[in-house]
Amino acid sequence: MISDRWAEKYISHDGIYLLNHSVGLPLRSLEPTATTDFWQAWRNADSEIWTHWLAAIESFRARLASLLNGEKDSFCPQTSLSSAVAKILDSLPLDKERNCILMSEEDFPSIAFALQKAGGAGYRLKFIPAEADTSDIDIWDQQTTSDVAMVLVTHVQSNNGRQLPVQLITNLSRQKNILSIVDIAQSAAILPIDLQAWAADFVVGSCVKWIGGGPGAGFLWVSPDVIERCEPQSVGWFSHSNPFEFDIHNFDYAPNALRFWGGTPSVLPYVVASHSLKFINNIGVDKIRAHNNELVDRIIQAISPENLVSPIELERRGGTLILDFRDRNQDMIKRLRDAHVQFDVRAKGIRLSPHLCNNGQQIDALIKLLN
Ligand SMILES: Cc1ncc(COP(=O)(O)O)c(C=O)c1O
Repeated sequence: MISDRWAEKYISHDGIYLLNHSVGLPLRSLEPTATTDFWQAWRNADSEIWTHWLAAIESFRARLASLLNGEKDSFCPQTSLSSAVAKILDSLPLDKERNCILMSEEDFPSIAFALQKAGGAGYRLKFIPAEADTSDIDIWDQQTTSDVAMVLVTHVQSNNGRQLPVQLITNLSRQKNILSIVDIAQSAAILPIDLQAWAADFVVGSCVKWIGGGPGAGFLWVSPDVIERCEPQSVGWFSHSNPFEFDIHNFDYAPNALRFWGGTPSVLPYVVASHSLKFINNIGVDKIRAHNNELVDRIIQAISPENLVSPIELERRGGTLILDFRDRNQDMIKRLRDAHVQFDVRAKGIRLSPHLCNNGQQIDALIKLLN
């Protein structure tokens, strides 16, 4: 029996909302929380405004740490994943003999654009071809040649819905003395993530998708093993070991991931995201994943296997289902749109992402439309 006890926690929606891989729905309780934690502190208009706001950002970092099993001090707020990866490259010395970054043609383009332009453009991108099975560790073993300095690993690839074996890839990279950056934009809050077990060097993510935390609350996790080697070039007073020292002649990096921060931070996105993180943490990712699996399995069982593009096996799929109805695609898209189903379409097909805001009835209604 599929639980619908979470759906009522989200804002009511006229239709079937399946765009959680793009923008997760807000909780009903979000606006009152933002009023208290953001607006009220401002309206009080006293010298404690920043104390309140910085406390909200601290709680954001602590809740992320709890979601992902990392230390709070290893997390730094960022505006987006692209900006975070650019800062990573700019923080490391470039080895001209070993300047290749390995990634996949199925990764998110914005990350490739940022990697291409950062690091004084001294790096070269090498792409694993789109046809290759990026969930096969042997492919990563073959591609991590002696010129590779860094790998980008996208936990769940948004083009094909595939889950990558992150821990195998980070282990392999470490053995070959290659740094790893993991992109968890499409997996945070829908797949279990254990940063201690992964032991990657850097992890980048955002809260806008499955966390349902709105745009703007990106983040960067930096391993305590590499933090000392990182000298970010884009800094500000919040990257300082003591932001309130105010000695113009002395810049001293924060000892932890906050050295990647910058000038006066934005606050509202973190207040919003922190509230959603609390909700997600209270439920727990195992239950969230089980709910998604139940809904996805119900759809998979009802369609013809030839229409399924994303992987069928649990351990190889993320939360998104990608369907291709070939010459019937346009008809199907129109039918779904007419019925107020919210989804999107990319090169490989129609993307549908069931989450806590969906119940069994909605999925049954969707299945009728798909047949
Ligand atoms: C896998 C993946 N990475 C990154 C992003 C977004 O990156 P940014 O925060 O730089 O816009 C997305 C957005 O859809 C994504 O699917």
